[in-house]
Amino acid sequence: MDFDDYLRRVPKVELHCHFEGTVRPQTFAELAAKHGITLSGDDPARLYDYDSIYEFLKIFAQVSSTLIDREDFARTAFESIEDGVKLGNLVYREMFFNPTLHTKRGVPYATVVDGLIDGCRRAESELGVRCRLIADVYRQDSANEAADMVREVLEHRRDEVIGLGMDGAEAPDPPEKFIEAYRLAKQGGLRLTAHACEDAPAKNVTTCLDVLGCERLDHGYHVLGDPEVVARVRDDAIVFTTCPTATAICYFTDDLTEHPIVTMAEQGLRLTLNSDDPPMFATDIGTEFAKMVPAAGWDRERVREICLTAVDAAWEIGR
Ligand code: ADE
Ligand code: ZN
Repeated sequence: MDFDDYLRRVPKVELHCHFEGTVRPQTFAELAAKHGITLSGDDPARLYDYDSIYEFLKIFAQVSSTLIDREDFARTAFESIEDGVKLGNLVYREMFFNPTLHTKRGVPYATVVDGLIDGCRRAESELGVRCRLIADVYRQDSANEAADMVREVLEHRRDEVIGLGMDGAEAPDPPEKFIEAYRLAKQGGLRLTAHACEDAPAKNVTTCLDVLGCERLDHGYHVLGDPEVVARVRDDAIVFTTCPTATAICYFTDDLTEHPIVTMAEQGLRLTLNSDDPPMFATDIGTEFAKMVPAAGWDRERVREICLTAVDAAWEIGR
């Protein structure tokens, strides 16, 4: 087996993947037709075309708006996991979803979560892959909306929903805005993570760890701007769930040899590789490994280390 095959086939645990960002363009178009929703273009493949997080988030919301019935959530959750298995030998995933992108449109939280769980259960029985769920605060929501979302998650407690995360555009909405949401989640027994230093300085990592109580962090690239924070996260063995392609498109250059992930690894930080919003950035979990590993010059031993870091940082493997 050549190195590219090995990278695509090595069994993968994925900790940073957004459900709404995994909807296939064809399914997006079919669901829009099913519900009589007009899309901003005819060619489904061209709907996923943007070069900033702000443009991306607009389409992300448009995709979300086509998910209405429990069956829509079940179908797309199953397809999302199936793509991970077929394209990258996914064996376990902890997947984000944004409750308020749906509840604000009038879709009940129970419809969202139970549809997702239907899809995950089908994937577990047909594909042998377990998927757990992480409810994400959407940073552009108000602090009260986020806290109410956490209350709703806890009121509709499901074993499959194991954590709280945070996404959306980072620069305008810093993590301390959501202290109350994180306090409630911790009190309710949810595990904690957050997108941090995707598009903001290193102090956001410190806030997520020390103020919000996060156990692992998503992205983390701008931690490199502060050597003291780098030393601290290295000493504390914090795991960063990095996403090469999506962030290369939204923030960095296409050339992955220049991605901050390379320097994070050189600095001894613990990291995992993930697909973020795979079809929305024309990638998949196999391709993320196949592109990032050669660009960084990593060998098989380093690939093993990255895969095992994900096993170690996962919250529900083996339970
Ligand atoms: N929502 C989906 N993917 C995201 C990302 N990479 N950053 C912020 N919000 C997101
Ligand atoms: Zn993300």
